[in-house]
Amino acid sequence: MREVRVGIIGAGMISHRHMLIYSNIERHAAQLGFKAKVVACAEINPDRLKKWGEQYGFEEKDLYTDFRKMLERDDIDVIDVCVHNNLHTPISIAAMKAGFDVYCEKPAAASYHDAKLMIDCAEKLGRKFHVQISSLMTPQTRVARDMIARGDLGTPYFVNLEMITRRRRPGYDLPQFTTDFYSKRMAGHGPSIDLGVYVIGQILHILGMPELQSVNGFAKRGVDIDERLVTNPDGFGVEDICHGFAKFENGLGFHYLTTSAANYKDYSMTYILGSKGGLEIIAADTVGGKLARREGVRPFFGEPELKFYGDLNGRNVEIDLKCDENGNVEQRLDPSMLMYNDNQVMFLAYWLGILDEESRYNTPEIAAQQLLFTDGIFLSQELGRAVTVDEIKAMSPALFLTEQQIGSELVKFDISF
Ligand SMILES: NC(=O)c1ccc[n+]([C@@H]2O[C@H](COP(=O)([O-])OP(=O)(O)OC[C@H]3O[C@@H](n4cnc5c(N)ncnc54)[C@H](O)[C@@H]3O)[C@@H](O)[C@H]2O)c1
Repeated sequence: MREVRVGIIGAGMISHRHMLIYSNIERHAAQLGFKAKVVACAEINPDRLKKWGEQYGFEEKDLYTDFRKMLERDDIDVIDVCVHNNLHTPISIAAMKAGFDVYCEKPAAASYHDAKLMIDCAEKLGRKFHVQISSLMTPQTRVARDMIARGDLGTPYFVNLEMITRRRRPGYDLPQFTTDFYSKRMAGHGPSIDLGVYVIGQILHILGMPELQSVNGFAKRGVDIDERLVTNPDGFGVEDICHGFAKFENGLGFHYLTTSAANYKDYSMTYILGSKGGLEIIAADTVGGKLARREGVRPFFGEPELKFYGDLNGRNVEIDLKCDENGNVEQRLDPSMLMYNDNQVMFLAYWLGILDEESRYNTPEIAAQQLLFTDGIFLSQELGRAVTVDEIKAMSPALFLTEQQIGSELVKFDISF
């Protein structure tokens, strides 16, 4: 049985989900022909690291407060980056420079500039690099992409993507999450990228990665906060609403609206209009697929499904595509389809050479294109006008952390490669 040896950096909330998925992958190892073994973990918070080590039965020698020490090992195959957004770039680059292939949590980074650095580093050093975008790993996405490629919708000309939550600011309304989610320094932005990578990334992938032309946008913090609940020393620095209208090649309009807080109800309304038919995207996956779920827990917006609006022999129809049911059958018929139903499985298969550049989803590129769109919204907000893709690329900011206190040392990150 082939086994991929993994080192994790960051033992916070999402690392536990990654551990759950690695153990669930083991249950499917016979069908997949491979599994993963997490052999080491680095975490700057010593108490968290100790607790994490005890929970998963790690020896002290495999636990590091300084990730650079872990990167000196020669018995680790891949690095799984689970730190917060603005650390993704320097830490992924450090891991690639140390010789490792990297699987990184979403969003790839908080700006196009930072994601592009990671992609360029991987290309230059010949490393495999993959980003967690769970919404791609569902039968919903595969069916929608296939329908568009077959021309079932004719020419797609408009996307509406709305994902509104009334009170779901991580770390503020949802105290189980780290308060870094609302720190501008750590997270970069709020729901624009936190949800955006899943939902914008999914639509771009479904549409075959159309090229962005221009963006007009609006982003701000609209809903009042109670300062007594703001415990992060950086304060509450991210937007709670993000609204953008983008034009893509071939005359495609794309409207994006998301909130982490709004004085309205929770809802999600996403559809693609085409000249021959339309598709409603019901509940994109923002959890991580079935292997990422605890027993019996259903996603916040429900199971990812699709509805087709079109024409059958001259009659108007609405068809429920039952992606979840069909996805279950698909996987029973071909267990290797799990590679397309889970992020970590796809990365492991890619690392092992079972999937190649063509057959894996190019998640870094999808993530970078999502960031171009959201960078455009922030740039447009700043300049007070619509911005072109060339302007967005030229003005995309560096948001990654350039230094960090690790133990008694102030570590300066060297991102040159
Ligand atoms: N929490 C979620 O449900 C969730 C879901 C999907 C994606 N994510 C993404 O995962 C990332 C992490 O989120 P989280 O909720 O796990 O945050 P978290 O704060 O719980 O975990 C991050 C951990 O990284 C550690 N860390 C920071 N710098 C480090 C370094 N140099 N070396 C080693 N460890 C270091 C922190 O001490 C912390 O324990 C974010 O980018 C987030 O967008 C989180």
